[in-house]
Amino acid sequence: MSGSDTFRAAAETYDRHVGRYAPALGAALIEFGGIESGMRALDVGCGPGALTAELVRRLGAANVCGAEPSEPFAEACRERVGVEVVSAPAEALPFEDGSFDAALSQLVVNFMSDAAAGVGEMARVTRSGGLVASCVWDYAGEMTLLRAFWDAAREVDPARAAAADEGVVMRWCGEGELGELWQAAGLRDVRTGALVVGAAYADFDDLWAPLPTGIAPSGAFCKSLDGDGQAALSEAYRRRLGVGDGPFELSARAWAAVGTIT
Ligand SMILES: C[S@@+](CC[C@H](N)C(=O)[O-])C[C@H]1O[C@@H](n2cnc3c(N)ncnc32)[C@H](O)[C@@H]1O
Repeated sequence: MSGSDTFRAAAETYDRHVGRYAPALGAALIEFGGIESGMRALDVGCGPGALTAELVRRLGAANVCGAEPSEPFAEACRERVGVEVVSAPAEALPFEDGSFDAALSQLVVNFMSDAAAGVGEMARVTRSGGLVASCVWDYAGEMTLLRAFWDAAREVDPARAAAADEGVVMRWCGEGELGELWQAAGLRDVRTGALVVGAAYADFDDLWAPLPTGIAPSGAFCKSLDGDGQAALSEAYRRRLGVGDGPFELSARAWAAVGTIT
């Protein structure tokens, strides 16, 4: 199963996994990108709508659209946020040239089958002078939830985990890499930066619960293990995080890039 297929899941399961960070990250991306009242914006790979909802809060529902290839997520975004969501991938956006003042995507570029084409489409549907902004997790570094997961997975099943570790397989997750993609797409005045957000958990079980369902690449790896393997992974993961039966918080860093359409 490809990484993007692992998002054909219930929105509530996503909310409990990486989606837990998405509202705060969305607010940070909007601030970083300089998205302002009066703009019309597109959220590409909107998922269940965390960034979309933040855009609606600032721009109004009439000025926000989503695009999302996973139908359960697209439907959840329509229901939760009340905006138009087209069922489409980034690589084939069904909008006229220059339809938006800004196109954003949050945690999506690494799941595009052709990132250059996807970012090119984001640029095409944005007007001259408009903004294209995205962020990706720092999978190899300070995205604590996923870094600790893959480090624990490498203890339990070293070869398979090394081949699936998002810090290795994700093309756009190092500092400045998104900026290179933005430059290659012909965007001008490209800026890059770090966005750091947090999420709260009731206890370790609260964090673990979505993983055996197969959500996201980390969940797909967890689900592929047998019962003993999952128990060993859970134990190693808990130990690496240094958490237990009480509440805790984790922080997560994402790399962001924004550029202007010439
Ligand atoms: C980690 S989730 C991020 C969702 C949402 N943007 C958020 O921040 O919560 C990745 C999303 O990218 C979507 N996706 C996968 N392949 C895509 C593609 N080619 N074009 C656009 N979105 C894609 C998935 O369906 C999923 O909703």
